[in-house]
Amino acid sequence: MKAGQFGKVAVLMGGASAEREISLLSGKAVLAALQERRVEAFAFDPAATPIWRLAELGVARVFNILHGGAGENGTIQGALDLMGIPYTGSGVLASALAMDKLRSKWLWQAVGLPTPRGLRVCDADEGPAVIAALGLPLIVKPVREGSSIGVSKVTRREAFAAAFAQAAGPAGQHEVMAEEFIAGTELTAAVLGERVLPLVRIEPPAAGYDYENKYFTDAVRYHCPAGLESAKEAEIGRAVKEAFDALGCRGWGRADLILREDGRFFLLEMNTNPGMTGHSLVPMAAKAAGLDFAELVMQVLAEARCG
Ligand SMILES: Nc1ncnc2c1ncn2[C@@H]1O[C@H](COP(=O)(O)OP(=O)(O)O)[C@@H](O)[C@H]1O
Ligand SMILES: [Mg+2]
Repeated sequence: MKAGQFGKVAVLMGGASAEREISLLSGKAVLAALQERRVEAFAFDPAATPIWRLAELGVARVFNILHGGAGENGTIQGALDLMGIPYTGSGVLASALAMDKLRSKWLWQAVGLPTPRGLRVCDADEGPAVIAALGLPLIVKPVREGSSIGVSKVTRREAFAAAFAQAAGPAGQHEVMAEEFIAGTELTAAVLGERVLPLVRIEPPAAGYDYENKYFTDAVRYHCPAGLESAKEAEIGRAVKEAFDALGCRGWGRADLILREDGRFFLLEMNTNPGMTGHSLVPMAAKAAGLDFAELVMQVLAEARCG
């Protein structure tokens, strides 16, 4: 598609979620790429201006690069559906499902896709039962947060209650889940249209692995191509596409998974509006597939749909 055929494009960025700052960085990069490709694009922050204004502004398409919260959980998608404005990424149902790691897991288990055993935790005193079911170590995390917020690894029984409290948040506002801990190599897989892009391997720092490292320091290294055997890479790619389709995702997305030493791999989650900053993983995978950042942005925009 040529730039002019897209009409006026609003880049949705910012928003009111915990991931607002990352979204602003992603949005800035996406906007610059669209303008470089001569698309008539402008920034729109739904935390500053009511989303309904888009209808009056004569917007033909939306590039939705909001991370977390209403922008990624189906809420904004519903508003755009009502206004009849096509938008990038998944629709209402898939966005809501993918935002929820526990219900994504149940769905993947139902269709036979590999994901760590996990369960819902309602109270801090369920520790003994959860540990009996999943063993130690285990992971405790909020069902619907991102960027490793509230994620902890529990290695001792006594640490379970504190991990629960951290995942639940100060007001106990978050639903909490526990998962068996999978030791292995962390991978991420970008989906673009019908394709799965080359896998990215995430190499944590040798000492003191802390989930915060991933986002707040550059001690973590990323490798793309990931260096897997091509048959394993292809097998993982097929599973990721099935996982994407099972949730009903569309356009683009990014799955996080862990590959164990024995060759088995486990899906952790699907992100429907993945990061698009200069350090982000989808642009890295696209580059390995021969797509520069602007071309990636144009391909995502071309897949914008409504309903
Ligand atoms: N079951 C698990 N086994 C091992 N590590 C995990 C597990 N679940 C989460 N992690 C670690 O926590 C990180 C964040 O978890 P993830 O489920 O991807 O949530 P989010 O990225 O939305 O915070 C993962 O990238 C991984 O490092
Ligand atoms: Mg993740």
